[in-house]
Order: sequence, then structure tokens, then C-alpha cells
Amino acid sequence: MNRLRLGVNIDHVATIRNARGAPYPDPLRAAKLAAAAGADGITAHLREDRRHISDSDIDNLARELKIPLNLEMAATEEMLEIALRHKPHACCLVPEKREERTTEGGIDAAGQHNHLKPYVQRLKDAGIRVSMFVDPDIRQLEASRSLGAPVVELCTGAYCEAVIAGDAKAVASHLDAARKSAAAAARLGLEVHAGHGLTYDNVRPIAAIGEIRELNIGHFLIGEAIFSGLDASIRRMRALMDEARSESAA
Ligand code: PXP
Repeated sequence: MNRLRLGVNIDHVATIRNARGAPYPDPLRAAKLAAAAGADGITAHLREDRRHISDSDIDNLARELKIPLNLEMAATEEMLEIALRHKPHACCLVPEKREERTTEGGIDAAGQHNHLKPYVQRLKDAGIRVSMFVDPDIRQLEASRSLGAPVVELCTGAYCEAVIAGDAKAVASHLDAARKSAAAAARLGLEVHAGHGLTYDNVRPIAAIGEIRELNIGHFLIGEAIFSGLDASIRRMRALMDEARSESAA
């Protein structure tokens, strides 16, 4: 059975810091604590408008982290230059709109093929593992493969929204799409990750999908840390993921 890795997204530690323009809480401190609590990697999204993670956060993470850094970024020249300067373990290409509250759905790997191709190539040439954040849609998986990306991260946002809405039919249909997409991506030779909106309540069916190798989870863990601490929130998520995985393998 594949071990499921947990990447902890620390963006919203920076959101809290930036709400007051104070130098705390420090995302690097959270990243180190996450590593000690069992995170396999740290994810950070340097947005064009720098609304949470800052350039100096990326400098600090790249310099000090002992576990892999996954830099989420839009496919722009500015972000490419930053990625090539730091050479994180991985870069996840995401769509970005200034007016959105959070990343809304996956990147259009199929429709933006010609724009994305040189970004994927230049990141790969620098030895960075490139992942495409895509909706669970076969066209996007095929396009990711034809772009030469070795990894896809399936967007679980719509599934998580259906869980919150209590729409059982939509939940079932999103889960079906996630399962079929994970299987299709693996058949295409892509490594499969997933994330966006995952919580204690909705993580199990996603963690049970055997082809998925990594989940990236942030907002819920940082919020839950207010009540139980970051160490405990990460350990609990890790335990739920492992339980779901071993039950599905049984
Ligand atoms: N994966 C990607 C590509 C994302 O953009 C995000 C949000 O930054 C996440 C995972 C984590 O989502 P959440 O913070 O909702 O757990």
C-alpha cells in the first residue's frame, strides 16, 4: 500500500500576521512545527498580490526547511524567476485571479497549453518537480501529461463545498469524478496529489483513493490550531488519513 503524504499549507499563518502588519505569527515557525508533527512537506502559495505569503517568507522557507517545499504559483514570468532562484522541491501551477478569495478550481491545462508549456519546461529543466492543479477532468489530465508535468494535483474544492451544502448527490458525483480521475491519471503515468478545502469531516473518502500519493491541506489545519494547537491538528489529520488508507486497503 502506498503511504499517503501530507503537505501542510501554511499560507494562513501569514494571513493572520498580515491582518495586523505585525512580524508574527511566523510561517517559518509554523512550518518547522508542522515538520515536527509529521508533515511530509510544506506548501506555500506566493500570490501575485502577496496577500499572505511574502517574498521573505519564501526566502526563509527555502533556506531553513529540512522537508520538501512545494511552491504554488501562477504561470507568470515574475513567479518563474522566483522559483528558479530558490529551486524548491516542487512547484504547483495554479490559476490566479486577483478578485478571488481563494484558488477557485483548477488551471486550464488544456486551453492554455501554449502559454503553460514553456513554464513547465523551464521549471523541469531546473530540476523542479512540476505539478498541475487541475479539476478532476480527463481532458485536463491528458493536457497535463502532454505538457510534460510529472504530477497532477486534483482540486477537491467542489467536493468539499458539496459536503458543506449537505448535497449527497453532488458529493457522490464529485467523489466518483475524483476516483475515476485518480485512476486515469495513474494510467497516464502521472503522480496524483489532491487538495483544497479538506477537513477532518471530508478527508476520509479522498484519503482512501489508492492512487493518490499526497494531500495538501492548509486552511482547516490552521483554523483548528486555534482550538487544539497546530501539532495536535496535524497529528489528528495524519491519523484520519492513515486510518482511511488502511481501511480501504483491507
Ligand atoms: N492545493 C492547492 C493547489 C491550493 O491552491 C490550496 C489552497 O492554497 C490547497 C491545496 C490547500 O487548500 P486549503 O487551504 O483549503 O486546505
